[in-house]
Amino acid sequence: MALFAEHVANIQGLILRGYTHPYSCHLLFSFDVPAKAPGFLKALYPSVTSAEAWGTAKPQVLLNIGLTFTGIQSLGVLAPSDLENFPQDFAQNPAEEIGDVGPSAPANWWYGRFSSSDVHCIVHVYALSAEALTQKVGEVTSSASQWGVRERLPLKSGSGRIEGYLREDGTVHFGYKDGISNPSLDDDEQSQAPEALNSFLIGYSASSASQPAPTEGKALEFAKDGSYMAFRIMHQDAAAFEGFLTQQAERVYQKLGRSLEETREWIAAKMMGRWRNGSPLVLSPERPDKKTQDETSFGYTEVGDPSQDIQSSFRCPFSAHIRVTHPRDEELKSIVSVPPRLLRRGMPYGPTLTSSTDDGVDRGIVGLFICGSLARQFEMIMGWINRNNFSPVYAPDEDRQDGVCGNRDKNLPIKNTFTIPMPAGEAIQLEGLPQFITTRGMIYALLPSMATLRMLAGLPSTLVPKEPASGS
Ligand code: HEM
Repeated sequence: MALFAEHVANIQGLILRGYTHPYSCHLLFSFDVPAKAPGFLKALYPSVTSAEAWGTAKPQVLLNIGLTFTGIQSLGVLAPSDLENFPQDFAQNPAEEIGDVGPSAPANWWYGRFSSSDVHCIVHVYALSAEALTQKVGEVTSSASQWGVRERLPLKSGSGRIEGYLREDGTVHFGYKDGISNPSLDDDEQSQAPEALNSFLIGYSASSASQPAPTEGKALEFAKDGSYMAFRIMHQDAAAFEGFLTQQAERVYQKLGRSLEETREWIAAKMMGRWRNGSPLVLSPERPDKKTQDETSFGYTEVGDPSQDIQSSFRCPFSAHIRVTHPRDEELKSIVSVPPRLLRRGMPYGPTLTSSTDDGVDRGIVGLFICGSLARQFEMIMGWINRNNFSPVYAPDEDRQDGVCGNRDKNLPIKNTFTIPMPAGEAIQLEGLPQFITTRGMIYALLPSMATLRMLAGLPSTLVPKEPASGS
């Protein structure tokens, strides 16, 4: 049976759709007066976007709501014994295990203004124009003040709010095109594939190995048709990244027989696994190519002479970001029962760096990583980013990291060298990888179903047909 068709009106749009509205704001709230919080949810409910089709016109504004474990707890609708049925990972925030240490540690998150457990609710607003965004954010924040809900301002710059935007060319800071590869969800309820919708959506799994929890009782009723989300603000040091490319290119460009600029781009591609225009190295090993820039279907072990590529990764280095976060046909260690996948809904925040030195302005990625199990999907991939030890291909160098995203903290058992295997001669070693990414904060939330939002808002449980979408 197809899950999608049956339940689409009950699932929040953010889970199933990759929004392309260019303006967004991600508002963090605490339910200071929990008894009044249902009034806030009731005020927002008519604006909440489900995964139903929009028809021909894109709505001007989209809105989705996430609730944290402490948020659900504070609403008092589930007894402590029901709350225990939620997975441990959702209730905790295991920063250390996923490499958020040193400057990325929780003590430094949100500029020390509050802790993630103070956040009860996240409201995501997306809009087609800056004006529409401002208007909806104004409505949301005035409802919040009316209903005893306190807004938390997590950033130092601008309004203090997290304001993400999409660039026309789809690039993020560091200049790479993003938003290319996401799982194409298989909505067969019986599917046991890693990309099965039932391993992202609570309440359906056909496989005990990938079954999202809770799996029984009132907690299941509450969470059904929802997904978990790791909401992560990641600062990007664009000056350090570009400076590293220049420094390393100067060392090797003559040996490679490429110009300095070409070598910078070549190193950037090796670290990501895609050229900055999006072309995957596996399909376009020598240079970026418009024809391949949106390609997602390729493997790492079947290119050219398979034995040569699997052993030496001449095209795409083993520790390239996309190879670590989605190893495709790479052999995994047997402890990985289901290869982890994530739905990514990210976008940049902060202005583009226009100089070659750091200007002290905060910029980076607003990362929304959606899954059915934070531990088996999100945290597993975070672990792989910080230590490449998940496949036999890394042995004996299992202390390597993702070239772009690893936390290089000196207290982690890692070697901050990026290896680029070469078909002729020795591999190129990029020594002294700097810390490019710093976690500014992270929140785990449940994106509950429309029915659960209605229940919390004190609205009738049956679906109320929505007005047809307006806008262009
Ligand atoms: C600031 C930090 C990050 C940057 C700049 C970044 C950038 C990118 C870019 C440019 C791509 C290639 C485009 C695409 O495939 O859509 C990509 C792919 C991906 N990233 Fe990240 N990313 C970051 C952090 C993360 C984190 C923390 C995770 C996981 C927890 C992650 C998971 C993924 C996954 C799963 C893919 C798709 C790989 C594929 O299917 O080929 N990324 N990222």
